Amino acid sequence: MADATWWQRGVIYQIYPRSFMDADGDGVGDLPGILARLDHLTWLGVDAVWLSPVHPSPMDDFGYDVSDYTDVDPVFGTLADLDALVAAAHRRGLRVLLDWVPNHTSDRHPWFQASRASRDDPRRDWYIWRDPRPDSGPPSNWLRYIGDSAWCWDERTGQFYYRVFLDSQPDLNWRNPQVQEAMFDTLRFWLARGVDGFRIDALIVLVEDDRLRDNPPNPGYRPGQDLPYLRELSIWNVDRPETRELAARMRKVVDEFGDDRVLLAELGLPLETAVAYYGPDGSGIQVPFNFELLTAAWEARGIAAYVDRYLAALPAGAWPNWVLGNHDTPRVASRLGPAQARVAAMLLLTLPGTPILYQGEELGLVDVPIPAEQALDPLARLLPGRGRDPERTPMPWDAGPGAGFTTGRPWLPVGEDNLARNVAAQRDDPASMLGLHRRLLGLRRAAPALTGGYEPLEADGDVLAYLRTGPGGPYLVALNLGPGPAHLAVPTPPGGGRVLVSTRPDRDGEEVGASLELRGDEGVVVG
Ligand code: NOJ
Repeated sequence: MADATWWQRGVIYQIYPRSFMDADGDGVGDLPGILARLDHLTWLGVDAVWLSPVHPSPMDDFGYDVSDYTDVDPVFGTLADLDALVAAAHRRGLRVLLDWVPNHTSDRHPWFQASRASRDDPRRDWYIWRDPRPDSGPPSNWLRYIGDSAWCWDERTGQFYYRVFLDSQPDLNWRNPQVQEAMFDTLRFWLARGVDGFRIDALIVLVEDDRLRDNPPNPGYRPGQDLPYLRELSIWNVDRPETRELAARMRKVVDEFGDDRVLLAELGLPLETAVAYYGPDGSGIQVPFNFELLTAAWEARGIAAYVDRYLAALPAGAWPNWVLGNHDTPRVASRLGPAQARVAAMLLLTLPGTPILYQGEELGLVDVPIPAEQALDPLARLLPGRGRDPERTPMPWDAGPGAGFTTGRPWLPVGEDNLARNVAAQRDDPASMLGLHRRLLGLRRAAPALTGGYEPLEADGDVLAYLRTGPGGPYLVALNLGPGPAHLAVPTPPGGGRVLVSTRPDRDGEEVGASLELRGDEGVVVG
């Protein structure tokens, strides 16, 4: 698409700031650290960074518990550091997106402190307070993420407050116009400082039924397999119509600052409902995350069918997006193994739409096992086996002490396996995972067809194949999702071509004629 905007052509890179680069030696990554490593990102060839939250926070949920939406936590630096980072990124042509956590604040946010202090406080209604039911139970049967009641009893004023995550993350009352305006103003604060957009946290749980109707049981619930909250169908407290309307209003706020700012949103909904967040006529969220590849069975026919279903479900004018990992999900290289992680990278970076790359994916980082007694993520305690520390460990920049991440003691271990995958060790090796990412990102920039049209190709067994069409194209992408050799009968692109990038680079440049043989775990782009 010649007239596609930057976030449509580009690749977004998620930075988990605690673990990217530590400039002051306290073992926790920070904004000056990110600034010092910006050249890695421009060298790699991404177009934008999304920073997980950097706002003042007691860090109960490592920043997803915000106590001030318009400042920077000292552990990450200062407001001036953030301004300097945005300016330095912009000088390099990189955009900067912040994480925005509208559903809940920290319980230490002054708004909640006031709200909790008395039933008569003007901020009481900024959060969701309710009396018990006559039987003194919670006001509805709604469950929070970890599977117990979503209502938390507060002795001080003798009422329950609503919270979907930790006790220390009370939900804001988005039905209150003052809350809406105050929160929209926090967006304006950052937009005016030059931030290019936001990733919206937990959007689907923003608003709840005002009559507090009870959820029905979920007949399909599989105890022991599904998260415990899934024993209910969360029809009255998740994905409410008011949330979609508010998403459109968030978009309007962002559009006040021009048409090149972007909203990404975490949803975690089934495809057909998730695409509703694009809004009528594209008036909603531009990038409602498509999380399918985080959990999809790694199977060619199933993924091919999903791509078709997803593209068909998109409303007119909506732009697709793809995610392989994030700070809440086991790493792709651990889920699929190192060989298929390379194939997955090629898939991510050649499917139609915006790819979102999670820090360290470009190195093939794996989950670092963290013993239960050393776990820092509260989920590790609340939902044993679901702790997220393993995918949040620091970036290994070199093999030196502190992995080039810190001169101090890293807040989470770097891990021996990941240390060996450090940036310095891979940087000059085109055959490395980092080299593969760089070549794919370079090709995306050089070949507009790779952000152009998409035509699925018929293929058998473990092979997933498609054409990307447009200026300079077509390009054939053929991915072998299995370990054995495979054959692609369709001779494309018409007239053949050359292997431009292979996940096994001994093949780069090879001529491809009437058909294509793929080795196990091999993916190629031919053009
Ligand atoms: C989703 C975030 O990605 C996750 O890290 C966080 O714990 C919850 N939302 C609550 O904010």
